[in-house]
Amino acid sequence: MINYTYIFHGTAFTSYSPEKVNILKNHLFFVNAEGLIEKIVSPEEEDYASLLTAHKEDANFRQLDEGQYFLPGFVDLHVHAPQWAQSGTALDLPLYDWLHTYTFPLEAKYADLSFAESVYEDLVSTLLANGTTTVLYFATVHKEASLLLAEICAKKGQRGLVGKVVMDDPEQNPLYYRDADTETALKDTEEFILAVQELAKDVKQGVYPVVTPRFIPSCSDEALKGLGDLAAKYDTHIQSHCSESDWAHQYVKDRLQKNDAFALNDFGLLGEKSVMAHCNFLDDNDAALFASTGTAISHCPLSNAYFANSVLPLKRFQAMGIDIGLGTDISAGATPSIYDNAKQAVVSSRMLEDGVSTALSAEERGVPDSRISIHEAFYLATAGGGESLSLPIGKIAENYSWDVQIIDTKAPAAKLPIFNSEEELDDIFQKILYLVRPENIKEVWVQGEKVHSR
Ligand code: GUN
Ligand code: FE
Repeated sequence: MINYTYIFHGTAFTSYSPEKVNILKNHLFFVNAEGLIEKIVSPEEEDYASLLTAHKEDANFRQLDEGQYFLPGFVDLHVHAPQWAQSGTALDLPLYDWLHTYTFPLEAKYADLSFAESVYEDLVSTLLANGTTTVLYFATVHKEASLLLAEICAKKGQRGLVGKVVMDDPEQNPLYYRDADTETALKDTEEFILAVQELAKDVKQGVYPVVTPRFIPSCSDEALKGLGDLAAKYDTHIQSHCSESDWAHQYVKDRLQKNDAFALNDFGLLGEKSVMAHCNFLDDNDAALFASTGTAISHCPLSNAYFANSVLPLKRFQAMGIDIGLGTDISAGATPSIYDNAKQAVVSSRMLEDGVSTALSAEERGVPDSRISIHEAFYLATAGGGESLSLPIGKIAENYSWDVQIIDTKAPAAKLPIFNSEEELDDIFQKILYLVRPENIKEVWVQGEKVHSR
């Protein structure tokens, strides 16, 4: 007989396709020693009653209370960990000025490892408490502090994919905050990759090094090419910013006479394990290149409202076959919550579809077929994030990691407005997505381990 590490019993919400949520009502979930979901049994199955009877007195059996539900842990595809220290401030300038006025001076402080430790410890705990179980992080140019972030993820049980940021171009980056030179940038990146791969050997939930050119404007051609080579050599994930704002998009066209997507591809930086932030200005050729190379988009709707001068045409890109997930983009997005970004993704898409200028007629104002539902936003926050990273996460399904949030709709400090004991589960699901606060996130599990409770 197989010994399961845990057996859970309750109702789960999870998406296997973008349009609709699957409701696994009163199912049994068997979690094995690797933290994977080995078996899911529904009440319709023949052995359900006997399994329930056989296991319900086990020490490792866990029954959810009334009003509690399982959701997959969220995947955040874009976080600047050092920027947590300025989150909620510094939102008044356009991208280029914001970087040079606030962000580079702040990131430069992470040469100090004790400062880095205090911010990173707090950030990782905060993201877990918000239901985020996997994060794709930008750290800073500093190799040591970047490794420290990976170690903190490992210790706290979060699945962290961490990049030492490369910014080597002396024309574009200030003297006080850049790689010493191209050679050092590549050497530090290679050492960082090896150190994280070594660390990963003992980390159950996984920790991964990520090749991370900040964006084309901050890197020399030589560095970009060298980073593409390193990603191929070590088979790592890759992240950067791509065609984010009018300025960033135009800068690359002026320098390289092509769009970001084609430039990144020519440097060897697009592929199945690449995730590019924003991508608002991709044209149809760029988008087709993303689809054919398997490159994913991290959609950061709150950040885009401040810095991207535009709304991502998400439906159009999804229809072309591009994997898309959600990112907070801390601190350009001023919230640690993927719930907040899922809601904003819906709001932004509605404004894109309807348009905003009343100087135009209703027919001319918007972009038809742009809106997404909260169900589709939930897909992006979970399964879409998992697909973007090519990892078995983001779904409550067999052979996926047991990465879940246990939501308590009756938490005394944040009770959800559910007044009808017969309320449709789909309505409860929508209320959870729109109204949950950290107080409702009772427990968070990653790879079969409890990493947060309240
Ligand atoms: N482009 C280059 N760096 C950054 C950053 O830190 N945040 C955002 N939003 N865009 C960038
Ligand atoms: Fe960013």
